[in-house]
Amino acid sequence: MKMKKLLALAAACVFAVTAFAGCGGNGGSSSSSSSAKVLKVGSSIDFAPFEFQDEGQKEYQGFDMDLIRAVGKEMGYDVEIQNIGFDGLIPALQAKNIDVIISGMTINDERKENVLFSDPYYQSGLTMVVRADEQGIKSFQDLKGHKVAVQIGTTSAEAVKKLGGVEVKELNTPADCFMELKANGVDAVVNDRPVNDYYITKSGETGVKALPERLTAEDYGIALAKDNTELQTKINDALKKLKENGEYDKIYAKWFGEQK
Ligand code: ARG
Repeated sequence: MKMKKLLALAAACVFAVTAFAGCGGNGGSSSSSSSAKVLKVGSSIDFAPFEFQDEGQKEYQGFDMDLIRAVGKEMGYDVEIQNIGFDGLIPALQAKNIDVIISGMTINDERKENVLFSDPYYQSGLTMVVRADEQGIKSFQDLKGHKVAVQIGTTSAEAVKKLGGVEVKELNTPADCFMELKANGVDAVVNDRPVNDYYITKSGETGVKALPERLTAEDYGIALAKDNTELQTKINDALKKLKENGEYDKIYAKWFGEQK
């Protein structure tokens, strides 16, 4: 306990010192105009290959992380990324604790009531993962009467509830969902296709398999506060520029191989 307190104190000091040094570096002025402005980004760092953290690495990595750093650079902003649970991201944006969300977040009408979105930057959709020896579940229609794990606050949670007759377990992260599947606590996980595919190929996971059927097609967007049209324009301009100058393609190829 004492040790923990000491560590927390040490961490707080390091933070204070860095924050202070940051101010000095910017000429002591926080009221903008000249040097780097800061783009405060929120992301739920649990979604490889979009946002994740390798053990022993302090940098967050993934497609979204590279993209938002490139967007920030294009706009002349320093990018600061905070790890916030997926269901806490929109509240953090509304409370102005962050300026944008990049988190594999699907653009949909329900969210548009609360946030603005950039132009779409990635085409995704939902698929499911079942145990490798699963015989009974071959399509989404087969999920009726089964237990299914989804990440809380996601389009997967919405979509599976809509199917009807499914017992839905909402867990904090996709990793929790996969664990639950392997422990026989659920019979399927519904989640974004590229994340399911990455999980199975990259982790060399053999106990589970992804099924090809897609439940939905979805576009990811960067979310902003409802009144922040100025930043929305800047972000869209930066995205457009990165698509034109080949930077977007480079980032895409790094995480997904060939451009589709
Ligand atoms: N695309 C889905 C949604 O918007 C899931 C996103 C989850 N993202 C994450 N970083 N865990 O609801």
